[in-house]
Amino acid sequence: MSTSRSDRWTALNTSRAVRDAADRLRQLSATASERDARRHWLVLLDLRDGERAVDIGAGIGDMTVDIARHVGPDGAVHALDLSPGLLHHTRQRAAEAGVLDRVATDTGDANALPYGDDAFDVALCRWVLLHLPAPQRAIAEMRRVVRPGGRVLCVEADWETLIVHPGDPDVTRRIAHANVERQVDGRIGRKLAPLLQSAGFSNVSVTPLVDLDRSGDWLPFLHTRLDVAAQAGVPLSTLHQWWKAIESAASHGEYLFSFTQYGVLGIVPPVSQPARAESPT
Ligand SMILES: C[S@@+](CC[C@H](N)C(=O)[O-])C[C@H]1O[C@@H](n2cnc3c(N)ncnc32)[C@H](O)[C@@H]1O
Repeated sequence: MSTSRSDRWTALNTSRAVRDAADRLRQLSATASERDARRHWLVLLDLRDGERAVDIGAGIGDMTVDIARHVGPDGAVHALDLSPGLLHHTRQRAAEAGVLDRVATDTGDANALPYGDDAFDVALCRWVLLHLPAPQRAIAEMRRVVRPGGRVLCVEADWETLIVHPGDPDVTRRIAHANVERQVDGRIGRKLAPLLQSAGFSNVSVTPLVDLDRSGDWLPFLHTRLDVAAQAGVPLSTLHQWWKAIESAASHGEYLFSFTQYGVLGIVPPVSQPARAESPT
């Protein structure tokens, strides 16, 4: 993987790009499988009243608002993102949910967090590390800002796990491959546990979660992958035919889409230890 790559999620420079990104996140967050997934991640986070949390790369604040509800009025959650425009949506959502009193928004970079050591009890980073050329830097930063004994949860898809039925399997493979290659690291899901381990976390656990769609919730997302595949050189006529098969199956309840994401939880060791040195052999 190149370390100089970036993608559109790290360059939301125009109001149009921010609006489109916010719409995409809202659409994903409204799917039944993502509503379920959020509940699972909250169970893993095991938040308590009065805790201080940080949501790294918070986007429109989907998880920020959930976290704010769980830490209660005596707790606090900081939503950090590169994009001030997306953080504006976070504040709006927090206000609508009645939790703005405990939500702060900070424009900043996951690679260099603007917080002191041990500032938080818990950190979450969902769907961000796949966009970063050096995810280990952001993971080390989360370890630094979370107190000893605190929790860090990273959640990422592994896009190689994407399957779609029906449609010509060869075309599906080409679309899925284009989607993997479109990300800075579309295979980050499988790498999270080793990354947290080598960053010195203890009790690293992996929870796989399958997003499964048979109702058509994920069709808008899937449709956006056609452009990605076209840019990767798959002929438009091939894509058009493939999509017709999907649409027809979906209208008869015969379509299936799924992929796996991984929630990897690590504990900051109670007595701070240096990250494990690589063995020379
Ligand atoms: C796919 S969105 C995920 C948003 C949110 N975590 C969620 O789960 O809904 C990726 C987010 O990461 C943010 N981002 C990308 N690179 C970043 C960086 N270096 N530091 C902070 N945020 C970053 C983007 O602005 C965007 O909000």
